[in-house]
Amino acid sequence: MRERQVFLQPVIEMNIVETEKQLAAREAVGYLKNSMIVGLGTGSTAHYAIKEIGYLVQQGLDIKAVATSESTAALAGTLNIPLLDINTVNSIDITIDGADEFTPDLFLMKGGGGALFREKIVATITKEQIIIADSTKLVSKLGKFKLPVEVIPFALNYVITQISQLKAIPLLRMVKAAPFITDQGNYIIDIDFGLIDEPPLLAAKLDLIEGVVAHGLFINLANKIIMGKGNELVLFP
Ligand code: 5RP
Repeated sequence: MRERQVFLQPVIEMNIVETEKQLAAREAVGYLKNSMIVGLGTGSTAHYAIKEIGYLVQQGLDIKAVATSESTAALAGTLNIPLLDINTVNSIDITIDGADEFTPDLFLMKGGGGALFREKIVATITKEQIIIADSTKLVSKLGKFKLPVEVIPFALNYVITQISQLKAIPLLRMVKAAPFITDQGNYIIDIDFGLIDEPPLLAAKLDLIEGVVAHGLFINLANKIIMGKGNELVLFP
């Protein structure tokens, strides 16, 4: 059995949600093999996986990675994980990423960290998308978390008007009294649709609005979800 550094601190000193994230991250990293191209997700759960991958690379794991955000690229850089420009890559073997919400049938809500566009492009060219999550992310219907939508600034008013016609409440994401700016230089609006009965239908409607770069509904993009639950793991499907 491969000897691996233990990143988990004693459970007694830890928030259980953080333990669940770390357990899921460690399990997902076990799927990586030499020569793979690996997509690195964004967010606090993906962060644990990237740190594990950094350790394995240091131990000799021979992979190359594609980052889903500038912050992930920076973290990977500090861990000496070799990075590829996504435009030199046609296909990614495995991506490990987090989610804000997921359902047992593998619908995802993503974008809490604002990286949804790059995450979606990476997921789209990935053969095996593994989502890692703590147990608070499991829902029977998406929508308690407001749906992040990345919008080209020029189209903001138009997009907000279109969204309002879908009987939803859009809110421009702000940071310190200024709009949050994505890695592409765009805005995010967080939209309250209430609980979403048919995510694929809503995704199709949002895809039709000019000025929407990407939305956080990930439909048919996840292959496996690894959820930490206490000190155990639950796998979907
Ligand atoms: C970033 C994302 C993240 O995966 C999502 O926000 C989950 O983050 P965390 O693992 O910190 O809960 O979609 O755009």
